[in-house]
Amino acid sequence: MAQDINLLILPGDGIGTEVMAQVRRVTDWIGTNQGITFNIEEDLVGGCSIDAHGTSLTDECMAKAMAADAVLLGAVGGPKWDKVDFDIRPEAGLLRLRKDMGLFANLRPAICFDALVDASSLKPDLISGLDIMIVRELTGGVYFGEPRGITDLPDGQRRGVNTQVYDTEEIRRVVRVAFDLALQRDGRVTSCDKANVMESGILWREEATWVHENEAQYADIELSHMYADNAAMQLVRQPKQFDVIVTDNLFGDILSDTAAMLTGSLGMLPSASLGAPDESGVAKAMYEPVHGSAPDIAGQNLANPIASILSFAMALRYSFNLGAEADLIEKSVENVLAEGYRTGDIMQPGMNQTTTTGMGDAIIVALDKLAG
Ligand code: IPM
Ligand code: MG
Repeated sequence: MAQDINLLILPGDGIGTEVMAQVRRVTDWIGTNQGITFNIEEDLVGGCSIDAHGTSLTDECMAKAMAADAVLLGAVGGPKWDKVDFDIRPEAGLLRLRKDMGLFANLRPAICFDALVDASSLKPDLISGLDIMIVRELTGGVYFGEPRGITDLPDGQRRGVNTQVYDTEEIRRVVRVAFDLALQRDGRVTSCDKANVMESGILWREEATWVHENEAQYADIELSHMYADNAAMQLVRQPKQFDVIVTDNLFGDILSDTAAMLTGSLGMLPSASLGAPDESGVAKAMYEPVHGSAPDIAGQNLANPIASILSFAMALRYSFNLGAEADLIEKSVENVLAEGYRTGDIMQPGMNQTTTTGMGDAIIVALDKLAG
């Protein structure tokens, strides 16, 4: 069935532009070969938008994001903008997109491809077959809590304040997302908090338990609780003990970077950020790699485009119900890795080191082969 999809692509800064150029090749391929029309618009976010417009996200760009069927984002930030005002820093544009689109559930799957078992810093048997889903709360907690700021104290010192704050429903809705995902997987959810130190952590634990005990559809879920520091340790000690992890914005930021490295490289990890479905069942969504703008390798055709390409696959799966097309992309990535293609971040002895565009070429060839 022919389908029309409106995408907003925001390449952003640093390697964002290079990796998103490879995503464009994959959207073109899926469009041409699977009978889908992608209406694609591009705009600026982050430092490049500061340079062009004096703000990391214009209202026009925000409006386009609200109107799009999905947003694909590259990465934001870089040393060039280290000194700009905190309120307009590159990251502020990304945070506004998340907040104003209501993208409270951030899905970060950490899957270790067989071909990359030796690229991880962990022993192969610890990570072979690894398949974890981290669900990070994305629009609340200390990232957005008030009061916040830096104030001058009477004695000449300064004080920096941020507030960790969560309300009942903010916790329950993201826990439900984790439970729904777990129902499609192994049925186990580990909720991570610091209930031993923080009242917001006690509430987190109580509300996660409440959903589990009161919503009948989750009766078969196995819910356990873990302190977030212990979870960080367990992720490198015995990562395969986890199925789905659900946690707050800050702990999720940290735990997902750890989980990413288990898969061999930050350059491999995609993510989906989803809002609540509206009356017609459609949810706002943004898809982005977990990695940042990597200014040290930007502009050199060295970056790994796989995390961004897999993020597009997540868009097909979660926003457009195009699971078969998503499978095709994921399978093509698996195949190029099995054939030995590696960008620098996942390079191993005996493999075939390639560039950003070279990896894009290989993935297109693999897609062609799969389509037969
Ligand atoms: C991430 C990033 C962002 C975050 C930054 C760029 C604001 O680290 O998506 O994990 O802290 O959420
Ligand atoms: Mg992060």
